[in-house]
Formats: sequence, C-alpha cells, structure tokens
Amino acid sequence: MTRNIPEPILGLLHDIGEVAGTGSYLVGGFVRDLLLKRPSLDIDIVVEGDAIRVAQALCERWNGTLEVHAQFGTATVAPENTDLPKVDFVTARRETYQGSGTLPIVQSGSITDDLRRRDFSINTLAMRLDQTAFGTIVDETGGLKDLESGVVRVLHNRSFIDDPTRIFRAYRYAGRYGFQIAKNDARLIREALPVTAQLSGERIRNEIDRVLLEKNAPEIVEQLTELGIWETICAGWQMSSDFASDFRAAQRAIAWASEHLADEAFDQAFVRWMALFGTQTPIYQIEALSFRLILEHRLQRLVSPAQAENRQVSLEKVTHVIFEKLGYPLSQNAVIEHHNGKWCIVDADVSIGKGKTYISGDGSLFRVETRLTAYKQLKEALALLKRSVKPSEIYRLFKPYPTEALVLASEGTTVAEWGREKIRDYLLVLRKVQPLITGKDLIAFGEKPGQTFKTRLWQLFAAQLDGEIKTKEAAYSRLEKINSNG
Ligand code: CTP
Repeated sequence: MTRNIPEPILGLLHDIGEVAGTGSYLVGGFVRDLLLKRPSLDIDIVVEGDAIRVAQALCERWNGTLEVHAQFGTATVAPENTDLPKVDFVTARRETYQGSGTLPIVQSGSITDDLRRRDFSINTLAMRLDQTAFGTIVDETGGLKDLESGVVRVLHNRSFIDDPTRIFRAYRYAGRYGFQIAKNDARLIREALPVTAQLSGERIRNEIDRVLLEKNAPEIVEQLTELGIWETICAGWQMSSDFASDFRAAQRAIAWASEHLADEAFDQAFVRWMALFGTQTPIYQIEALSFRLILEHRLQRLVSPAQAENRQVSLEKVTHVIFEKLGYPLSQNAVIEHHNGKWCIVDADVSIGKGKTYISGDGSLFRVETRLTAYKQLKEALALLKRSVKPSEIYRLFKPYPTEALVLASEGTTVAEWGREKIRDYLLVLRKVQPLITGKDLIAFGEKPGQTFKTRLWQLFAAQLDGEIKTKEAAYSRLEKINSNG
C-alpha cells in the first residue's frame, strides 16, 4: 500500500509518525485516492491529543511556516522545500448536530469518533503513521469493501439531514469515480432533499463550485437535476438542457484564456457559472440565484425607507398590496422566499413573459444586478449579428461585456465560426487599439467637452478602427470635414 506513495511524501509521513507516535493518522481523501491509485496532494493528518503541538514540532523539523487556528485545534505546515505539499493537522474530534443544515458542535475525541463523524464510508479510511504499525489501514465502517465494490454509503440514517451538503458530495464522488450511490442512501437523499432549502447561500455555492470543477460535471448535474435539487434551492430554477455543451465550451474557454490572456485577470469560476446558467435560464432567475447563492451581484435600490414611509407601507412585510402601492404590481404567481435575511420575490410574470426579481429588506426594495447574465445576453446579440459588420460596430457591441463571457461565447458550438472569429479578433486586437486622437487632442484643437465632443471622439475612433484613417493628420482633416458638414 505505502509503495504507491511518492517518495517525498512518504518521507513527510514517516517524520510525522516519528514525532507524534501512536495516535497519528493519515486520513480522508488521500487514503481513499491512494487505494484507488489516483494521485492526491491533500495531506490531512488526524492526531489524538494536541495537533497544534505536533504541527509545531514538525514545522521546526521541516524548517517550514506554520499557520495555527487555535479555536479549531488545527494547524497547517508548509515545508521550506516548496516542492513538498502543505500538511494539515487536525485534533481528533467528535461532532454533534443541533439543527439540520447548520454547522455542528465540535469536541475533541478519539480517532474512532473522528472517523465516525464523517460523511461516507469511503472517506473514513485512515492509515497509521506510528513506526510500530506504519501503513496499516484502519477501517471502522466497511470503507474498504465499499471502495472495492464502488459504493457511496453514509454511516447512519440521519447523515444527509444533519448535513444536506452531503447530497452534492454523494453525487460528486459517484460521478468522479463511476460509483453507485447505495440504494438505502438514494432513499435517504430523497427524504433529506427539502432540508437543502435551509442551507446558507455560501454552503450551496461552495458545493456547486466543487461540482463544476469535476471533469464529469455534466453527468453529476444531470443526476442532481433528476433528483430535483435546483427547484428546492431557489423557486423556479430549472437546469438548462444545454449544460453539457456549455460546460465543454467553458473548459475550452479556460484553456484558451490561459494561453492567450495569461497576463489578464480572468475568473474561471465566473465562466463555469455562466455556463451553468447557459442561455435557457431567464434573466430574472439568474438574478435571483446570484442573490440566493451570494454570487457576484449588487442591489440597486428602487424604494428607500423614507419613500416607503411616505406611502405608508412597511417593506419588512411582503404582500401583493404593498407592491401595488409602491408601483411595482406583482403577478398572481410571484413566489416569495426568505434568503440571506431578506425576502426574495421572483415574479415569472408569464402574462408579459419578462419576469422580475425583487429583494426586500432593511426597509428598502431592490432590484438585483449581476454580470452573470452576460453570456445569455451576448449570445442573443450574436444571433442578430451580420457577417458584414464593421470593426467599429463590433467594438461597440462587445465593449460592455466581461472578457469571460466573450471567451465563453467564442467557444460556443452554436455560434457560427465567423462570429467566433470576430470575438477572438476583438479580444486579441481590436480592444487593444489606442485612439489616434484623445480628449486632450480635441481640447487643444479647440473643441469643448460635452455631448458633441464625445460623439466626435467616437466618430474618429470608429473611422480609425474601420481602417479609414491611419494617422493623426488624417484624423484632424476628418474632424475638419465633419465639423464643416455640421
Ligand atoms: N466531510 C464530511 N462532511 C462534509 C464535508 C466533509 O464528513 N460535509 C469529511 C469527509 O470525510 C472528508 C473530509 O471531511 O473526507 C475532508 O473534506 P473534503 O476536503 O471536502 O474531502 P475530500 O475527500 O478531500 O474531497 P475532494 O477529494 O473532493 O478534495
């Protein structure tokens, strides 16, 4: 078993066993992946007793740097040799859940307690590090058998209710390793499903982020869709049926950006989320989700507390009558949910077919704005684009969009090749063009700042982008011509 561990890591593990003695174990993902012969760099050590003291001693031995979280009894050591991975030390602990979807109460405990608090049997395998039994596997819950037969299984019937993030985790492991979720667990998952509604936005977002990092994300998302998890998280959320192709486009987009835009800020997670929402999720739903999952968004105030008071309504309550009084009538099928301490009102408004999302809280009424809608909007704009479009029109069309949305669309299979070429040309060439004539030049030329000034600047820049003017002199004579024509 230990022969599959890379030599430098084996050295670290022997050091830990030597320093900590009995009661030190390698646990979790590393052991699971080692047995599956998959490489892993996630080194988690459980110590019965004082993990921080052990980490301090090893930090000295490895000449490393130490990060201590005393309140959690955990520490991380980064060895001086940066070719070696960081090592996380945790004091063995026992956990008790007080309420569904909330974080557990933690006390110190034995290795058995520590393994039994975990999610799935395949994650409860530990490897002894003490010199007398180095490499011996501790299997308290039948993890080895489940690993062999490819089964994801919880340790007790309340597991998913205690922590519904485990629903995502079960599908993630099953999708990653091609495992089956145990039959009884599939039933437990269905029973615990409504509890996912109680999870905080951050916790759900983290889980989805981790699903989107998996190579098999489309298959995992499909399983979660079959389960009906999206609607539980946010009213009306239906997964886009194009996700698989948008996800592949996101992967290509990320690879393309790492090669061609390496020196620019490029948010890979943002690309994956835009792919998840795709082009089928309505704008108002993307807005509601950006609020629910605390993704990138901002709240634009529609009604202030003073304005609400003038109209004699309190925005702490949400009713159709209040919205009517404020001038934002809701349709009959508007759905009201409480998320992140505020009311989220999703009005699909099928009669008009547009839909709106409002947030009400702190005595104010808000609309949500998010850049996550950019991919959907860009694809709609691209559908109207003509092949003969001029570079200046391309520039004006693409400028408001985030780079991430443009790169994603340039990899989209439903965009014509010439359209994709235009996006790449914009990203690599057009958007970097420096204007021959700046505002300063125009002032020196005697123009006064204002609307006409702005129009002139754009006209000159557009002519430059379209190749009509190539020098400053040509730009000035064009300006004179425009001015003399009024
Ligand atoms: N764990 C748990 N319940 C959770 C999250 C984590 O019981 N909701 C436990 C699991 O036993 C897991 C360990 O904490 O082995 C560490 O969690 P994490 O780092 O998320 O697991 P890995 O197995 O390292 O995940 P991955 O392979 O995806 O990195």
